[in-house]
Parts: sequence; C-alpha cells; structure tokens
Amino acid sequence: MIPEIQRFGRDFATRSIAPRKKAYDERVLRKGRDEWRVWDPKKSKLGAAMQKGLTDVPLRRGMKILYLGISTGTTASHLSDIVGFEGMIYGIEFSARMVRDLMQVSSQRKNIVPILADARMPENWAQRVEKVDLVYCDVAQRDQSEILMRNAKVFLKKGGHMMIAIKARSIDVAAKPRDIFVQEKQKLSKMFNITSDVNLNPFEKDHAFFVGRMI
Ligand SMILES: C[S@@+](CC[C@H](N)C(=O)[O-])C[C@H]1O[C@@H](n2cnc3c(N)ncnc32)[C@H](O)[C@@H]1O
Repeated sequence: MIPEIQRFGRDFATRSIAPRKKAYDERVLRKGRDEWRVWDPKKSKLGAAMQKGLTDVPLRRGMKILYLGISTGTTASHLSDIVGFEGMIYGIEFSARMVRDLMQVSSQRKNIVPILADARMPENWAQRVEKVDLVYCDVAQRDQSEILMRNAKVFLKKGGHMMIAIKARSIDVAAKPRDIFVQEKQKLSKMFNITSDVNLNPFEKDHAFFVGRMI
C-alpha cells in the first residue's frame, strides 16, 4: 500500500491535504500531526473495491487522472489526497448541480479541476485536459465502457491505467449482472489488460470494479 493510504482497523483512510476541511461527511482520525480521512465504502466504489480486497491500486503521488462522472467529488477527494499538489485530477461531470457542489471541494483542493461537460464528447473539452496516467470512469451509463475507451484513446499515456465501476443495471435491467460483467470485460479487453475484477456486493448491488492497463 502507498504511504498516502493507511488502514485503521477495518477502515482505509487517506492522509488529508486539506486538514480541518471535510469533502463529505467522512470521519476524520488524527495521528501525530496528520489528519486521516476515512474512506467510506458505502459512498465510494473505489473504497468499496478496496474493502472487497482490491490490492491492485495503480495510484501514486504526482499522477494525473481524468475522472469521468466525478459528481460532487466524494471519491475524487481521496484521489486528491493521494496524488497531492504535484498531481492533478480533471473531473468531467454533466450535471450543473453536481459541479456546483464539486466546486466547494475543489476550492479547498487545488488539484481538482471541475469541467462541466459530457464525457461522451471529449472533442469539446480536449484542450482543457493534458495526457493522463489514469482514466477513472463511473458514469453509470449504458455505454460506460465505450465512454471510457473513447477517452482513453485521446488522453491516456502509453501503458497508462484505467479503473471503471460497472453498473450492470444501467446497461441492461433484465440481464444477469454476471453476464453483463463478462460482456463488458470482453469489450474492454480489446484495449486493456484487465488485471483486477472485484464484485462490489454488498456495498453496491450489481456493480463490479475493474482495473486494467492499456495494451
Ligand atoms: C455514480 S455517480 C458518480 C459518483 C462518483 N464517481 C463518486 O464516487 O464520488 C455518476 C455521475 O456521472 C455523471 N454522468 C453520467 N453520465 C455522464 C456523462 N455522459 N458525462 C458526464 N457526466 C456523466 C452523473 O451526473 C453522476 O454525477
């Protein structure tokens, strides 16, 4: 585990780069001079994936991340602690209401850049984003894998990584989630070597979380 993430009993936490400022209603622990923000697995799919045993976490200080579906910045706030001020998170979100709340978080965390835009159309905002080390995708859309791949093609550095939360019910409400996970994995395998695949039950019903590296 990288030094910016620590375990406190069963909980994971990130060392805050914005002490005394909360990003959501997370619990805060103090250890020496550091403040550690507990990563709530019920509110963050990456937090849930780690609770479910994900150890393949290709995150490090200074990295650049493109985050598709950043919402109000719950998960992004922990990524922000990890990448630190040397890193950057470009957050794409098409709901103006979510971006308004995200701006509260980004005003305390200068390494989050909120971008009000549709993740399906990177050509409209490509000039605002640089090449990144990781694309994180949590858009809960029928074409979520295609959205990730379209963006990875434009922004992901050679050999870069991806993380995606697959919401089976957004793709097909009638199909068995297990079949959807297999289908999406096959699609993504054309572009990525999928290195981890975690089912997020019971934290998130009918969700899987994949980690991969660009082939
Ligand atoms: C499940 S929420 C993301 C939660 C967030 N990833 C977190 O863990 O803190 C999905 C978000 O994706 C956004 N979204 C869905 N489709 C999108 C699109 N095409 N472009 C940009 N944002 C999108 C939604 O508005 C919503 O805020």
